[in-house]
Amino acid sequence: MIILGIETSCDDTGIAVIRAQGKKNPKIEILSNLLSSQIKIHQKYGGVYPFLAKREHQKNLPVLFEKIAKRFKFLDKPKKVDLIAVTIGPGLDPCLWVGVNFAKKLAKELHTSLVPVNHIEAHIVSGLLKRIRNNSKFSILNSGHDIFPAVCLVVSGGHTQLILVKKIGKYKILGETRDDAAGECFDKIGRMLGLGYPGGPAIEKEALKFKPESSRFKISLPRPMMNQKNYDFSFSGLKTAALYTYKKEKSRIKASKEYIKAMAAEVQQAVIDVLISKTIKAAKEFKAKTIMLGGGVVANKELRTQFRKKIKKELLNVKYLIPQKKYCTDNALMVAVTGYLKWIERGKRGWKKIKVNANLKI
Ligand code: KG4
Ligand code: ZN
Repeated sequence: MIILGIETSCDDTGIAVIRAQGKKNPKIEILSNLLSSQIKIHQKYGGVYPFLAKREHQKNLPVLFEKIAKRFKFLDKPKKVDLIAVTIGPGLDPCLWVGVNFAKKLAKELHTSLVPVNHIEAHIVSGLLKRIRNNSKFSILNSGHDIFPAVCLVVSGGHTQLILVKKIGKYKILGETRDDAAGECFDKIGRMLGLGYPGGPAIEKEALKFKPESSRFKISLPRPMMNQKNYDFSFSGLKTAALYTYKKEKSRIKASKEYIKAMAAEVQQAVIDVLISKTIKAAKEFKAKTIMLGGGVVANKELRTQFRKKIKKELLNVKYLIPQKKYCTDNALMVAVTGYLKWIERGKRGWKKIKVNANLKI
């Protein structure tokens, strides 16, 4: 069947088209995966402005759809699309409504069913995509692949959650952030250091240039809640500690490029240490067969590598599933794939009322 996915939960407008088949061993082919990023628009404000983001989604969504409709001739022949999957939450309320209203209208025009998708579940599912042969064909690792129970860490600009995945569709939140999300922490510190928006990739780039052996700076920041017994996180304390340390340095001398590299490396390491420590602990306690990662922060190469090493060292038989880098940040492919899995789960019963829930839980 042909599925159209729509994503507008934050500052990325995405539309994807996939061909999906099989229920026990689902196979996916990506026919199109378009994304219109608003990074340039929000860069001057140092963060996402919901109403500006909403306006951009309203502008970009029809443009992306037009491109796709032309290519696949959707509008010439109704019923060519079998399913429309749309993100209904969590996310920014005005942005989510743009996607949901667009999807509803489209579903009517194309005589197609609509599937509501939880954005966090979509980030989880992106880690289950296993490439087969080329870059556009995937199988979905599901119950038959001996990977559940899994512990999944979803880390993005809006969320930091540790989730026990009993199977696709059955989740338990083990812990989450009590204040800022990890990506938000990167974004705020990135802005403070004058590195622009989004802070995560910019901090990664600076951290990569840091050479501890030759640097005269040795910065030490806290690892909040790392040794507490629960699975919750807190990143606002790290942000404040970074801010004070930076201000102190700035009052002595103008913070040099060298100092910024050292600060970026320490911030990145502090976040990685906390994320790895809690995830490994949860995997041990819940006897996870797999550790999965998802969300924008997982695009961080150092995080991916350090996780891999730690799992190899401490949990030798535990599988490690991470999305390809390009599918870590928000995209509509993960929405289309999740929509297909939800449709398999629910059968033809369908969904009656589809509405936005900005605080939707998994
Ligand atoms: O999943 P995502 O695209 O959107 C949300 O659902 O929030 O995640 C965006 C977040 C931003 O905070 C961004 O700074 C962070 O992911 N991010 C990174 C990297 N790439 C994106 N953080 C660290 N390293 C990266 N390479
Ligand atoms: Zn996201």
